[in-house]
Amino acid sequence: MTYRLGTPLSPSALRVMLLGSGELGKEVIIALQRLGVEVIAVDRYPGAPGHQVAHRAHVIDMTDARALRALIEQERPHLIVPEIEAIATRALLDIEAEGIAEVIPTARAAHLTMNREGIRRLAAEELGLPTSRYAFADGLDELRRAIEGGIGYPCIVKPVMSSSGKGQSTVNGPGEVAAAWDYAQSGGRVRQSRVIVEEMINFDFEITQLTVRAVGAGGAVETFFCEPIGHLQQRGDYIESWQPQPMSTAALERARAIAGAITASLGGRGIFGVELFIKGDQVWFSEVSPRPHDTGMVTMATQRQNEFELHARAILGLPVDAGLLSPGASAVIYGGADAVGIAFDGVSEAMLVPGSDLRLFGKPESFARRRMGVALACGGDVDDARRRARLIASRVRPVIPS
Ligand SMILES: Nc1ncnc2c1ncn2[C@@H]1O[C@H](COP(=O)(O)OP(=O)(O)O)[C@@H](O)[C@H]1O
Ligand SMILES: [Mg+2]
Repeated sequence: MTYRLGTPLSPSALRVMLLGSGELGKEVIIALQRLGVEVIAVDRYPGAPGHQVAHRAHVIDMTDARALRALIEQERPHLIVPEIEAIATRALLDIEAEGIAEVIPTARAAHLTMNREGIRRLAAEELGLPTSRYAFADGLDELRRAIEGGIGYPCIVKPVMSSSGKGQSTVNGPGEVAAAWDYAQSGGRVRQSRVIVEEMINFDFEITQLTVRAVGAGGAVETFFCEPIGHLQQRGDYIESWQPQPMSTAALERARAIAGAITASLGGRGIFGVELFIKGDQVWFSEVSPRPHDTGMVTMATQRQNEFELHARAILGLPVDAGLLSPGASAVIYGGADAVGIAFDGVSEAMLVPGSDLRLFGKPESFARRRMGVALACGGDVDDARRRARLIASRVRPVIPS
């Protein structure tokens, strides 16, 4: 489907609603704004980053199907773009089926990927993609049996509905199973006890394979691949990413075959972050987000069209260019303290670093481990860019104004 671009706030306006308006949504909104799209930003708290750059901002509980539907009926967007997983996706299935709006990439993709079980079974059991060994469990005894009966130690226990590493733990032996079960119960997004337990993959590195489904020159949806993004995870959060991640030709081909298969199966248009584990020439599928990926913020320093611009173009039915301009890196800037309305010192020193760039997200409230900004750098090679990004991030100092 191609949409005609119009004039915001007029009868010709093309309206897009973002469900979730954090730092990733903010960049998608800016990309849409540049094309004259009318944007409605929705989040669960006022003053979210995307709220600050949209035509209209709403605060609702997006897991409340009735509230979500009422807002969609009030705003009548042409397109609905989920930015987070915690959404009443069943309401989106109805909205799509009734032809009220187009859900990006599809309502089924949003629904399947909000639960680790849906996407894992699709990838491993229907598509036959390589994944870690896994099992699901609804109680401690069942979890023990699953581990002892085949998954083995070490393994990783995760709530099926959770993100950003919440409720996840590594289990090294029988004595740690009960604690992992209890921790998963506390970290899930909704109160439900189901967990996935996965064999621990001893990978060399992990990548995000950004994959775009967009209308190609022939008028049909085609698949485009960005260069692979390497990243470091700490306590369930990415702290550094870089592009391109060097890897063998065989591994890159496998990564793209896997990414192509899972995204084709989810369908629709837009960008997907396919998370993969790599060891030599071996590749495992881990998970996929049908939306821009946090590690993909590096593309703001590396690509002619960053992942947010790619998403904006793809969802509107426009052509994309997923090519790389320069190696680059990103490093996360945390709040460092729990406070409202923080300030940032050291920004000019940070910007003296060659090839530097910076995003400060404008989140109203800081927490010690909340991502408040990201340092970006391009460089002659990935190592050079990573050094620069870390230096930039270290120079930006969040401060509590007195
Ligand atoms: N089976 C596994 N083997 C090795 N590492 C894993 C495995 N599962 C998760 N991890 C590590 O934990 C991180 C977060 O896990 P992930 O499943 O992506 O959860 P989330 O949805 O919270 O991002 C991964 O990026 C990876 O570093
Ligand atoms: Mg992940």
